[in-house]
Amino acid sequence: MAPSTSSVITLTINGEKHTLPVDHRTTLLDALREQLDLTGTKKGCDQGQCGACTVLIDGRRAVSCLQLAVATEGREVTTIEGVAEGDELHPVQQAFLDLDGYQCGYCTPGQICSALAVLEEHAAGWPSAATADVRPEAGPPPLSPDEIRERMSGNLCRCGAYVSIVQAVARAAEARTAGTEEALA
Ligand code: FES
Ligand code: FES
Repeated sequence: MAPSTSSVITLTINGEKHTLPVDHRTTLLDALREQLDLTGTKKGCDQGQCGACTVLIDGRRAVSCLQLAVATEGREVTTIEGVAEGDELHPVQQAFLDLDGYQCGYCTPGQICSALAVLEEHAAGWPSAATADVRPEAGPPPLSPDEIRERMSGNLCRCGAYVSIVQAVARAAEARTAGTEEALA
């Protein structure tokens, strides 16, 4: 008997479980867009180079065009549709809106998902290729424009909205720091 080439899988997307049949070659990106109608995640290059399809898987960013849907079963996926709290935008979304961190908006869902992960990675003390002193005792580097550019370098913007994107991520980082300090006060 020929091996089966499809399976019925359950994916957890934005906290909701979805059971669907998928061909084993189906990417997470295609399952999201074509089968679950979650079209906020965009297809750009479809080969892992532009970042338009970035989502969070178990809180870490991933390009969904290189992730097989079957390999995502049992993991928590967050797409742009799951970032806001009801009608209230996430501070990263608000910063992109306030500072015009987009032009056509096609890359924006991926940029925002990536920015969410950048803030977490930075807060956890992860260095980047732009970090001058990577010794653990040096602590996390300030999230300077160079740090932001490096950490967001997997997300391309064909409109060239990079200046505003960097400003938006910086503002979201400031808001996060202020919020953390407020919570600790
Ligand atoms: S569409 Fe996935 S990286 Fe470009
Ligand atoms: S805003 Fe158009 S591709 Fe980035």
